[in-house]
Amino acid sequence: MYLSEVSTELESIVDASIKKHNKFLIAVLQDIQRHYNYLPEDAIKLVADKLEMPLRDIYGVASFYKAFSFNKKGKHIITACLGTACHVRGGPKIVDAITKELNIKPGETTKDMQFSLETAACLGCCAIGPIVVVDGVYFSNVKPTMVKKIIEQTKSGIEKTDIEKYKHIFPVKVSCPRCNHSLMNTEHLIDNYPCIHITVSFGRKHGWLRLSSLYGSYSIESEHEIPMDTELNCFCPHCHTELTSSFECPICGANMVPLMIRGGGTVHFCPRRGCKGHMLDV
Ligand code: FES
Repeated sequence: MYLSEVSTELESIVDASIKKHNKFLIAVLQDIQRHYNYLPEDAIKLVADKLEMPLRDIYGVASFYKAFSFNKKGKHIITACLGTACHVRGGPKIVDAITKELNIKPGETTKDMQFSLETAACLGCCAIGPIVVVDGVYFSNVKPTMVKKIIEQTKSGIEKTDIEKYKHIFPVKVSCPRCNHSLMNTEHLIDNYPCIHITVSFGRKHGWLRLSSLYGSYSIESEHEIPMDTELNCFCPHCHTELTSSFECPICGANMVPLMIRGGGTVHFCPRRGCKGHMLDV
């Protein structure tokens, strides 16, 4: 027993998450991280207690994945890529510009708890770097002069950004890698863009899945409710080929789903519900 007293809010979040995810540790930690924006020490102890796992095992898992943080983060997370490709295209200058604008270095949070700055080794879309991700929205070909505007847009609500006018946020148009038939559904919009339409099966269910075509968005709609952590089998709705590849998701290890990008390149996404693994190769 690691704890004698915890807040009722924390306990109810942990209890609900354990029940929902059938004691799947990573998903429980994701729920806590989502709610608090970090993993409070009390929460980790409580999870260890409820799952009857050694505390060191919970810390082992939580410290392995970069998505988890032990420190309280700002309302908005800015991640600047410093992988090799982004580095040679000026990534360090972007970090300098953000540091100058917000007065924080990578790993720090502004005093008003509005922004945290992080760096990444590669965000999976090297050819259009330098990449900056703000609250999950990807900006490509970023220049130091754009940093002020990106921060201003974040303050006023990044979701209100007019993507049509802002060419550095990019939607993709994709087709089946086997039959080359377009997978775009122009009659149905998600995030204000034509969605990607495929079919999926899990358990005994089979139905359609619509995904946002905005790279970095995780918005989906589906015919059947898909429980978190379910690994889907994905298919082309035209040739019915299963869409799978030998690439493993860098987050959860599932086999990634490949889609051809119109104009060249491939985008891979993780078929596990709730996992944010994805890669872009243009
Ligand atoms: S190096 Fe920046 S996205 Fe790969």
